[in-house]
Amino acid sequence: MIDNHEFGGQHTEIKLELVEKYLKAWATALRPKFNSLWYIDAFAGTGARTVRTEARDGDLFEAPVPERVESRRGSAKIALDIVPPFDRLIFMEQKAAHCAALEALKAAHPDRDIRILNGDANVLIPATIDRVNWTSRRAILFLDPYGMEVAWATLEAIARTRAIDVWFLFPLSGLYRQAARSISDVDATKRRALTTMLGTNEWETELYSPVPPAVDLLGALEPSAERQRNADVAGLEQYVKRRLETIFPLVADPFPLPPQRKPQRFSLFFAASNPSEKAIALARRFAGHILKAGISSHVRPR
Ligand SMILES: C[S@@+](CC[C@H](N)C(=O)[O-])C[C@H]1O[C@@H](n2cnc3c(N)ncnc32)[C@H](O)[C@@H]1O
Repeated sequence: MIDNHEFGGQHTEIKLELVEKYLKAWATALRPKFNSLWYIDAFAGTGARTVRTEARDGDLFEAPVPERVESRRGSAKIALDIVPPFDRLIFMEQKAAHCAALEALKAAHPDRDIRILNGDANVLIPATIDRVNWTSRRAILFLDPYGMEVAWATLEAIARTRAIDVWFLFPLSGLYRQAARSISDVDATKRRALTTMLGTNEWETELYSPVPPAVDLLGALEPSAERQRNADVAGLEQYVKRRLETIFPLVADPFPLPPQRKPQRFSLFFAASNPSEKAIALARRFAGHILKAGISSHVRPR
């Protein structure tokens, strides 16, 4: 069954290119040391993505261009193509139609160990990784949600393994929409969503400051109960990084997506859970290099 999965924009290309580079470098470096390397795609999609390029009218100088619809590889297929190959690939996906497409991908690769789990990644991730003996096994886990689906408890489960590196497309636009400028605009639903995503309710005191008292017509100070968010978009991103650093021994500076256009919508984070000096040095070298250099086809963002 083919499930047409159309999502993202230019930032999707960049995100997938960065993750693919890391997967290749990581698998090559770890292959001689471990005989069990896993890839876990927790928001796996279908294995493919549909890219639509709009039609353009012609003019005196250029011929008209018809609409173009192409199918490109999604993260699951990219991971399957990595050489040296992963020993096991676990694809988690909530949507049944997407799982059916993943089953077709699995059927096309009968020689590979592929597990497809249908359900909520926040339930499936801890249930899967908590049971694994990680002593002689390493994994990369990709969190690629549409929005604010990843719960903090899920990140804690990943960090607990001390064996999994994670790439996390963090929904910065979700954060700045929920954390409204004035605290009075942050209703109970938004508060809950922020606390679930950030793993603490301290965001309220860390991100918001009291509004200075106003001077009334007679020159007297009028105190205000209102509090305003003191962090701009860059400050919010830094706050997320500091939160991740409370549970992961290494968190790289994130890659902003889209890289050059405002507003920034996502931050692509890399975090490593293995605290050993050797593992940190390796992860820092690979992720740091990939995130700093950006990618060939796109100018470095900062
Ligand atoms: C941005 S797409 C992932 C794209 C994929 N990484 C790729 O490159 O092809 C997000 C996917 O997550 C799935 N999804 C949404 N919420 C989920 C959840 N709570 N648990 C697991 N999958 C979820 C959606 O059905 C969708 O297929």
